[in-house]
Amino acid sequence: MNKIEQNAALDPVGDRLQRAVQSTLRGQRVRDLLHGVWLGHPLHPAMVQVPVGAWISAAVLDLLPGQRRAATTLVGLGTVSALPAAVAGLNDWAALARDQRRVGLVHAASNSVALVFYASSLAARMRGRHGMGRVLAYLGLSAASTGAYIGGHLAYKQGAQVNQSISELHRMTDEWKAIADLATLPQRELITREVDDVSVILYRHGDDVTVMLERCPHQSGPLGEGEVQEIEGHACVVCPWHGSTFRLNGGEVVHGPAANDQQLLPTRVVDGILQTKLP
Ligand code: FES
Repeated sequence: MNKIEQNAALDPVGDRLQRAVQSTLRGQRVRDLLHGVWLGHPLHPAMVQVPVGAWISAAVLDLLPGQRRAATTLVGLGTVSALPAAVAGLNDWAALARDQRRVGLVHAASNSVALVFYASSLAARMRGRHGMGRVLAYLGLSAASTGAYIGGHLAYKQGAQVNQSISELHRMTDEWKAIADLATLPQRELITREVDDVSVILYRHGDDVTVMLERCPHQSGPLGEGEVQEIEGHACVVCPWHGSTFRLNGGEVVHGPAANDQQLLPTRVVDGILQTKLP
């Protein structure tokens, strides 16, 4: 797996595919829908439950007598539902870092092989060739399992589409810390501060001050260097790296590729000094 991460020979194909995905999925609404912004969680891992569940169930039914029809139905369900899951995965993949895209490319290739085997299995079953359909389905399950293993590496070792900022909280102690003199805090400006070596951004609007983790949950981009934009009446910070956008008054994700809300920290003012702590 480490060799795949470092294999630059995958880049020409990966770069071409990335351009194709970005030029095909151009609308912000479509991209946000596929990233899972509306769900507050990446959509791709949730969507793959349907094909994986259907294909594994079909593999069990293929071992039992008198279950041809049910197995064929499940192979068909898995094959059809794999397509939107793949589109959501490609949409996430196109905004990953280069080493993640290399592994993601091999993950997608394994799953594409699985899809071809399952589509062929479905065709064989529909022609009455159930023995051949079973063999093709088990080959498909092997390819899909390889793809799942690679996907696990991508998520759990490389941290793709995992919230990159939340682990920052583990470095903070659970006590109130002074971070700014409220009287000197400018209005509607992003200010960066450190709390226990954790970088946070401050944004003041009237007497309300937001304290938010500074690392973008998508790929750790510096939100403190982002732009403040008004979106649907809410002040939002736009990540300078890939454009993920978060409301400054609640942390809700407005645009992807991040699919998680950004963590806010509680605040209080004591003798004119703004303090914050762990949520
Ligand atoms: S790091 Fe990718 S959007 Fe912020």
